[in-house]
Parts: sequence; C-alpha cells; structure tokens
Amino acid sequence: MTDTKPTILVTGGAGYIGSHAVLELKKAGYPVIILDNLVYGHRELVEEVLGVELMVGDTCDRTLLTHLFQTHPIGAVMHFAAYAYVGESVADPGKYYQNNVVGTLTLLEAMREVGINKFVFSSTCATYGMPEVLPIPEDHPQAPINPYGTSKLMVEQILSDYSQAYEFNSVRFRYFNAAGADRSGKLGEDHNPETHLIPLTLDAAMGKRESISIFGTDYPTPDGTCIRDYIHVTDLASAHLLGLEYLLKGGETAMFNLGNGNGFSVREVIDTVKRITGRDFKVVECDRRPGDPPILVGSSEKARKILHWTPQYADLDVIIADAWQWHQSRHL
Ligand SMILES: NC(=O)c1ccc[n+]([C@@H]2O[C@H](COP(=O)([O-])OP(=O)(O)OC[C@H]3O[C@@H](n4cnc5c(N)ncnc54)[C@H](O)[C@@H]3O)[C@@H](O)[C@H]2O)c1
Repeated sequence: MTDTKPTILVTGGAGYIGSHAVLELKKAGYPVIILDNLVYGHRELVEEVLGVELMVGDTCDRTLLTHLFQTHPIGAVMHFAAYAYVGESVADPGKYYQNNVVGTLTLLEAMREVGINKFVFSSTCATYGMPEVLPIPEDHPQAPINPYGTSKLMVEQILSDYSQAYEFNSVRFRYFNAAGADRSGKLGEDHNPETHLIPLTLDAAMGKRESISIFGTDYPTPDGTCIRDYIHVTDLASAHLLGLEYLLKGGETAMFNLGNGNGFSVREVIDTVKRITGRDFKVVECDRRPGDPPILVGSSEKARKILHWTPQYADLDVIIADAWQWHQSRHL
C-alpha cells in the first residue's frame, strides 16, 4: 500500500512561522502550496529555500480561493496569514477585523464549499489578556485587551461553531513568543517593521540600532523586568505537523498552548544576546508601557500529552544563537 500524503495549503507560508512550517511539512513528505499576498512575506525565501508552489493572492479573495481549491487536491489547510501588530490594531481595528476575521471566514467558507474540513489555526496567547493564573492553561478565561487579540478570539469562536454545526475539525495553537530560526540559517525572522525583542536586540548588537529599551524595571519579578515565554520557531513548526496529523487521523477540534514553559526576563534576553554575539550595546531603561503584564508564561502540557509534542530547542542560548546566525546572514 502506498502512503500518499494529501496536499496542504499553507496561507502566510512566505512569512516567518509559516515558512518554517512549510519546511517541516516538506521534510515529512507533504506536497505544499502556499497562498500569500506578500504584504509581509518574502517571495525569494519561497523560491530559493522552500521550492514549493506559491500562489500570490489574498485570503479575502473568494474567487481566487474557489479556483485554488478546484484546481489543487488539497486535504487540509494551515492558516498563518494575518496581521499581527498589536499597536497598529489599536490604531486601526478595521484593518485587523477585515484581514484576520473576514479573511479567515472567506477561507473557511471556500473550504466548506469544496468539502475540506481540516484546519490548523495560528491563534495567540494575546487571546487570554491579563493572566489570572500562571502558567496559563488552555481553559484560562479569554479576555483580550487589544483588537489583534480579539480578532483571533473571534476566529476561535467561529471555529467552535463550525465544529458544532458542520463536520469541520480544527486545531488552534495559541502561541507565546515565536523566536529563533531554522538551524540551516536559511530561514528566520524578518518582519518589517520589527517589534519583537530578540531581533531588535540583535539589531542593536549589529550596530543597526543605537540602543535597546527596557520598558519597566520595577515589576514584581526577580530582576524587575517583564518575563515572557519564548518558543523556538522550529518547535512551533513541529507542533503544527503533529496537529495536522492529529486531524488527518480523525482527531476532533482542540486547542493547545505552544510555549516554552520557562519564562525569560527582558534583561536575561539582553544579557544572553550580549554574551552570544560577543558585542556590547547601549541599554536604555524606560517607564512601563500600559497593558504589559509582568509575567506571561503558558503551560504546554496539553500539547505534550495529546500531540506527544516535545520541544527540542527550549534553551534560551539555542534560540538566540540560531536567531543570530540567521540575522547576520540576512542583515549584513
Ligand atoms: N510571531 C509571533 O510571535 C506570533 C505569536 C502568536 C501568534 N502569531 C500568529 O502567527 C501567524 C504568523 O505570524 P508571523 O510572525 O509568521 O507573521 P508574518 O507577518 O511573518 O507572516 C504572515 C504572512 O501572512 C501574509 N498575509 C497576511 N495577510 C494575508 C492575507 N489576507 N492573505 C494572504 N496572505 C496574507 C503576510 O504577507 C505574511 O507573509 C499570524 O497569524 C500571527 O498572528 C505570531
């Protein structure tokens, strides 16, 4: 008997996390097609590194989606495509509801039209809002404090309703902070604008930024700076493969946190970057920013237990060393 694997549509596959998931799918032998509007994605990474079919288009384009599903034998969808700048979502919520909610609903309806009923969704720890319990479990109340988090929670609600009403199963992954890069050094994080701490700190190490800011040094944490949960992007990608295979084997709708389980403080991240890069740079201590909880760390026990997910690169040194390797090659 031959083991023919279904083709997987990866939306947002030209972006940071999606491209790492495509690599993992390819290694596991799945045919892949990427749909990305290239607003933030990188065509050259798809063509030069991933070598899979890229359809340039938007998840809001129902005609294009119907054509795509009618012309490709797609068995499941991994949906990474979204906008993810929290500050921008506060200033321009319509943009976020349009892209993240309407875009996803358009995709889901196009899938339903052709009978595709397996969906892996990039949700976020931002759906929890301010943590009441640490580490945050999946059944923690979801009360987002910005439109970005709300847009993701709305999609989660749509997915719950779809699995109640239709034979439609989804896995929702609520990621904490994605970080690091593929160990080959050929793929990595390249957001523009960049807002994430590790690449910004690496920019400071490269002399591309004058300094790095710490927002708040008087939090109730051991060194006074905020603690966050960083998860290596390759570990995220391996979880997506497991989530997909769970659905392909008939698994029912489920949601999982994906985090490291260990928090690292802003100061620890900066000190680790200095040590690993061997470069010193200026650190500026600023006031707290509104809405930043002191500690955001998730429990990923459920993914370990049900999906048998075992993160391989949970060490902060490894996350930063891999990010540094990529960062140097990309930003020289
Ligand atoms: N980076 C993180 O730490 C993090 C944490 C939690 C959740 N997430 C979620 O993970 C997903 C991927 O994040 P990322 O960091 O890889 O972002 P990214 O911007 O690198 O990738 C997103 C990709 O989607 C594409 N895209 C956006 N809207 C689209 C649309 N309507 N149609 C087609 N393509 C579209 C962009 O061009 C980009 O290539 C997002 O859904 C994000 O909300 C990310």
